[in-house]
Amino acid sequence: MARYDGQADWYELNNRDRSSRNLDPLRELLGPGTGPCLDLGCGTGRYAELIKDTGRTPVGLDLSSDQLRHARPRFQGRVVLGDAQRLPFTDAVFPTVLAAWISTDVDDFGQALREIARVLVPGGVLVGFGAHPCFNGPQVAVEGQTRVIHPTYRESGWHTSAPWWGEDGIRSRFGMRHLTLADYWNAMINSGLTVDRVVEPDRGDDIPFSLGLRAHRPPLIPPDRATAHQGSDRGRDHSGAAR
Ligand SMILES: C[S@@+](CC[C@H](N)C(=O)[O-])C[C@H]1O[C@@H](n2cnc3c(N)ncnc32)[C@H](O)[C@@H]1O
Repeated sequence: MARYDGQADWYELNNRDRSSRNLDPLRELLGPGTGPCLDLGCGTGRYAELIKDTGRTPVGLDLSSDQLRHARPRFQGRVVLGDAQRLPFTDAVFPTVLAAWISTDVDDFGQALREIARVLVPGGVLVGFGAHPCFNGPQVAVEGQTRVIHPTYRESGWHTSAPWWGEDGIRSRFGMRHLTLADYWNAMINSGLTVDRVVEPDRGDDIPFSLGLRAHRPPLIPPDRATAHQGSDRGRDHSGAAR
């Protein structure tokens, strides 16, 4: 049974305000587009409408059939029960993937990113969005506008409780996987994707809660250009300077 099974009604109700605050930065990161957009770990499908508004056709995937029960009508039936770490798609089929608030939930974020890189068409775009590794996690106690960072920052992995988590908050219910900033960026670097832009959206608070990015799968170099490129490398040393 997936972690969110049996909890989707609670999640749908309690995530409404939180997800609304993400709409503007997500719209901005996505920009206009066409073709299918995979909403990976789509949950109850709060971003399906936004994806449609950008010109794309939203397709939702989640590990929890209970979450998909809510998502299905929002995606007009285009939902898939599946694992982000072993995507049930052939290579190079999506021009866009959105991965919102899943770095805290999938067991192996690095593997999910490699799968995203595999299913993106060359040149295709990933919009990643979620918990800021430094300022939102099991190491963080929120005290008004102040955040207190505890030494648990270095404890990567699953956290099921923290003394400063609210009793009926999302994290007390589901737990979360904490990635340090280094874990997060190394997973991104090792995925083969190229990061184009990073944002720390301002939700009217002085310290960001979320981190967002736009990345792309590098386009294929046509064989004739690759040969020409190799040729042009001859006569250069490793710094790229002409010998
Ligand atoms: C915090 S929720 C985010 C949902 C949605 N993206 C949003 O922002 O509202 C995390 C979601 O990731 C899903 N999830 C966790 N592990 C997964 C996996 N391995 N493959 C696909 N979905 C997964 C959960 O079922 C849950 O719906």
